[in-house]
Amino acid sequence: ASPKRVAKALLDWYDSHARDLPWRIGPKARKLGRRPDPYAVWLSEVMLQQTTVATVKPRFERFLKRWPTVEAMAAAPLDDVLGEWAGLGYYARARNLHKCAVAVTERGGFPDTEEELKILPGIGDYTAAAVAAIAFDRRAVVVDGNIERVVARLFAIDTPMPGAKPEIKARADDIWPDLRSGDFAQAMMDLGAGVCRPKTPLCLICPISSVCDAYTQGNQEDFPVRPAKKPK
Ligand code: ADE
Repeated sequence: ASPKRVAKALLDWYDSHARDLPWRIGPKARKLGRRPDPYAVWLSEVMLQQTTVATVKPRFERFLKRWPTVEAMAAAPLDDVLGEWAGLGYYARARNLHKCAVAVTERGGFPDTEEELKILPGIGDYTAAAVAAIAFDRRAVVVDGNIERVVARLFAIDTPMPGAKPEIKARADDIWPDLRSGDFAQAMMDLGAGVCRPKTPLCLICPISSVCDAYTQGNQEDFPVRPAKKPK
């Protein structure tokens, strides 16, 4: 299947099946070309790096209620941000969160490219790509654990992890659309979370099973290939 067809199938699926999550905008707003608030996207992506969607939801909403804007968070004492982060783990993240809020406020808002986002405190490759794509609709190839699994299966990539990462990124780049990059990223995340699950993937309801190499081979659960066990 051509990359364009894969992207179209996933985006169509996303239009009717996207999860309703507090950091997203609804289908009507998407159709109108609206974008989510970069601050909300950034905050959610930082939280989601170490914590499940179910846990993040209420905590994200509390953060936004307490500090509705990046400027509000920047003006808060660091200790308040650390306190609000309690239980979410990795406190370096919360320190960086505040530091980043200050840096963004000083520069007058979030930058809208992957390269500029990467310069900010605590924003690594993943977060920069996710914010550029989701908040600004830049073509940025976003690869998290879910997307890694989807791509490894789609192309039956048989290199063991983590060695397969560059190949996965290159294959994701091949199918990544120029338009609706943020929706595509989140479509892949939703597919990975709900359909292309680690165990017992639901291939019968998958919008791209007909072009999935692993499904065609009948061994979708074998991907991504686990690292070889080290001899003891
Ligand atoms: N995991 C990380 N980012 C996400 C997002 N934007 N939507 C759903 N799950 C995610």
